[in-house]
Amino acid sequence: MLELVFATNNAHKLEEVQAIVGSRFVLQSLDDIGCHDDIPETGVTFEENAKQKTDYLVSKYGLYCFGDDSGLEITALDNEPGVYSARYSGSRDMERNIDLVLEKLGDNPNRAARFRTVISLFLNEQQFFFEGSIEGQIVGSRKGTKGFGYDPIFVPNGYDKTFAEMAAEEKNRISHRAIAVGKLADFLKSY
Ligand code: IMP
Repeated sequence: MLELVFATNNAHKLEEVQAIVGSRFVLQSLDDIGCHDDIPETGVTFEENAKQKTDYLVSKYGLYCFGDDSGLEITALDNEPGVYSARYSGSRDMERNIDLVLEKLGDNPNRAARFRTVISLFLNEQQFFFEGSIEGQIVGSRKGTKGFGYDPIFVPNGYDKTFAEMAAEEKNRISHRAIAVGKLADFLKSY
């Protein structure tokens, strides 16, 4: 059995990933190790931000750990909002962030976008990265009330509904996060 810290305080995320990686790995949250710090997220890529989380935990606690960073990249906006997804409009208010995306895109016919997640893992003095992405289109107005973030304006390719119109189980089968976590889990299981 190996203890691994997941750089999150989201109990739901932790439980979900614990179930996928199996009982050989015991996952601990930031809370579990008494870390209440504001871990810096100042990178300009998802990789940098995810690695900042694990670097911080390694240097402060010397623990094996992993951390993730995700966001939405819109092709016609030079891959914005990207690492600024959570505060694109300058606030964490998702209504304003979505309004800004729709306003910037206007009636641009190029609606291509993708959600991406990068996971940084530090294990046995080695650094690993796992990535997941899902391609889709940004619709002209919000549809659906489930999910979070930009879900109401993102339709994955091959579907005719937004992430916010899908049941959680359906989104979680195909999402960027599910793909990245699946790769992490496969790696850990064969480790
Ligand atoms: P985090 O790194 O997972 O905290 O994601 C950063 C931001 O990206 C979130 O605050 C959301 O705005 C956006 N985001 C990431 N994943 C999703 C998703 O699955 N649906 C909608 N928005 C997301």
